[in-house]
Amino acid sequence: MTPPRPLRLGLVGQGVRHSLSPILHTRALELSVLTGSYTIFDCADDTAARAVFAQLRSGELDGLNVTTPFKALALQSADAWQRTAHHKAGVFTQPANTLFMLENNLVAASTDGAGLGAALLSAQVDLVGKRVLLLGAGGAGQAVAAEVLSLGAAQLRIANRSPTPAVALAERLNTIWPKHAVPQTWGDPQGLLGIDVVLQATRLGHGQPPLPAVLSQVAADLDWLPWTAWAKHQPLLADLVYAGDMTPVQALALQRGLRVDNRLTVPPIDFAQIHPALPDPSGIVKYFGQAMLAHQAARSFALWTGRPVDAVRMLAAILPSHEA
Ligand SMILES: NC(=O)c1ccc[n+]([C@@H]2O[C@H](COP(=O)([O-])OP(=O)(O)OC[C@H]3O[C@@H](n4cnc5c(N)ncnc54)[C@H](OP(=O)(O)O)[C@@H]3O)[C@@H](O)[C@H]2O)c1
Repeated sequence: MTPPRPLRLGLVGQGVRHSLSPILHTRALELSVLTGSYTIFDCADDTAARAVFAQLRSGELDGLNVTTPFKALALQSADAWQRTAHHKAGVFTQPANTLFMLENNLVAASTDGAGLGAALLSAQVDLVGKRVLLLGAGGAGQAVAAEVLSLGAAQLRIANRSPTPAVALAERLNTIWPKHAVPQTWGDPQGLLGIDVVLQATRLGHGQPPLPAVLSQVAADLDWLPWTAWAKHQPLLADLVYAGDMTPVQALALQRGLRVDNRLTVPPIDFAQIHPALPDPSGIVKYFGQAMLAHQAARSFALWTGRPVDAVRMLAAILPSHEA
């Protein structure tokens, strides 16, 4: 019997040469005992990205991840949308991070929402009845917003630096979850004192270490948030950005009085059994961005190969190593 030919997977994006996705998917191939490669396609423009999508259509490639700025293009280029989250009231299409072929159709999916849901679950965070603030209504913000509401959050307040995307996203969400989504003016802390969970989905701090110059820039962008009140009641902060041991936004939150919840961060992340007596975690979730990345990657890999893969073992491949 001829062995299956090596899988050809890859990532389409811009400025993505240092992406962690090749490490994650190489690990997924090893864990699944499959051979293959994962190539970075750093594309200058839409034409270059479309040319890579065409390789998927022609069978030269077997599966693609897509990231900024081509996620919306991936959705437009596809013949079908794979519904990856279950929203009883309707289908919420999002800029796509995954493309694959199914019965001659180019199918677009987003695994970011499910990745967020799994990362929250592994951090023992239950969103039922919670008030959530989402910072950022770009590709990632749109993908996770629907997941937050499908996980039972009571209210989602959406703040985006430029107001139009936040208003548009809230309007779309409210057609499926009436009155649950509220646009929040960037720079206005009104209504945010009692927030339970903060999801940071802007590019603030992206790929940067928490050095003083970076921190003062991030502080200038986020000092309108009610840090003093939050230092008292410790909402949970989950930063989608990943940058080493601590992201600039996490470091700012630490400076402003949020604590790191060590139950979540004893290295590597302690995927503890959920204990009914355990109170909700609060404060900063370290490595949240990496955990979400690993979970969304595992879901993309399963769409391409039909094989489930252990996201936690994939995650271990990208976490900083710690002395025992
Ligand atoms: N962990 C994961 O698995 C995962 C998955 C997806 C994305 N991410 C991360 O999430 C972040 C956002 O990704 P994306 O795909 O949503 O990017 P995107 O579509 O390019 O959107 C960028 C977002 O960041 C905001 N922004 C940029 N600079 C800002 C500033 N100085 N102050 C305030 N807001 C600013 C933008 O606001 P405007 O609309 O006003 O420009 C927009 O909301 C990236 O760092 C990405 O790596 C992580």
